[in-house]
Amino acid sequence: MKRSTAQKYDRASMRYDRMEGIIENHFFRRFRHLAVSLAGGKVLEVGVGTGKNLSHYRSGVELTAIDFSPGMLRRAGEKKEQLGMQGVELKEMDIERLSFEDNTFDSVISTFVFCTVPDPVKGLAEVYRVLKPGGRAVFLEHMRSKNPLVNPFLYLMNIFSRILLGTSMVRETQKNIENSGLIILHVRHLLLDIVRLIITEKPGIRIN
Ligand SMILES: C[S@@+](CC[C@H](N)C(=O)[O-])C[C@H]1O[C@@H](n2cnc3c(N)ncnc32)[C@H](O)[C@@H]1O
Repeated sequence: MKRSTAQKYDRASMRYDRMEGIIENHFFRRFRHLAVSLAGGKVLEVGVGTGKNLSHYRSGVELTAIDFSPGMLRRAGEKKEQLGMQGVELKEMDIERLSFEDNTFDSVISTFVFCTVPDPVKGLAEVYRVLKPGGRAVFLEHMRSKNPLVNPFLYLMNIFSRILLGTSMVRETQKNIENSGLIILHVRHLLLDIVRLIITEKPGIRIN
């Protein structure tokens, strides 16, 4: 399951940016900016994909970005070069088994990732573990809607998205985040409530 999801993204990596073209330009780019502008200090981006968020980081941010698809990481590497982002580290790694010490990062960023992580509960537990107490995890994610008129479309799209990319259109990602132990500070609905910006904090006092 895990290998096949990474392989699907490997295969899609060459055309991934084109696939999301219109929706990316009209909506997602703005949303990404909102999410990424909240990152500060030592930052981990999980599921970096082709690196669409890279241009939105503030200069001077200390960024490590991981993904389990080597193909997607290669595209992110190309963007990093084009942007001349020297201090950014890209690593092949599984969100469900991060190789970082506990309490390492000030911020974690995830955009459109927890719809795809094969075991999202395990992945969120890892996000929690590596975040410093008082650190911030920001999620920009699509998920099942609360609107019964919208969900049939999502279930229809789900048939194709699962086959093509191993992505679920109907996961209850906000519930998964709520159950992870992270404290939800703010939820903003974007594109009805299908896409949500969820700002969270790990409980505890930040000691730098
Ligand atoms: C829908 S794409 C989003 C990419 C990027 N975050 C963006 O906003 O464009 C999901 C990404 O998450 C990665 N991913 C999914 N599950 C993962 C896991 N368990 N470990 C690492 N990366 C994972 C996929 O390889 C893919 O690059």
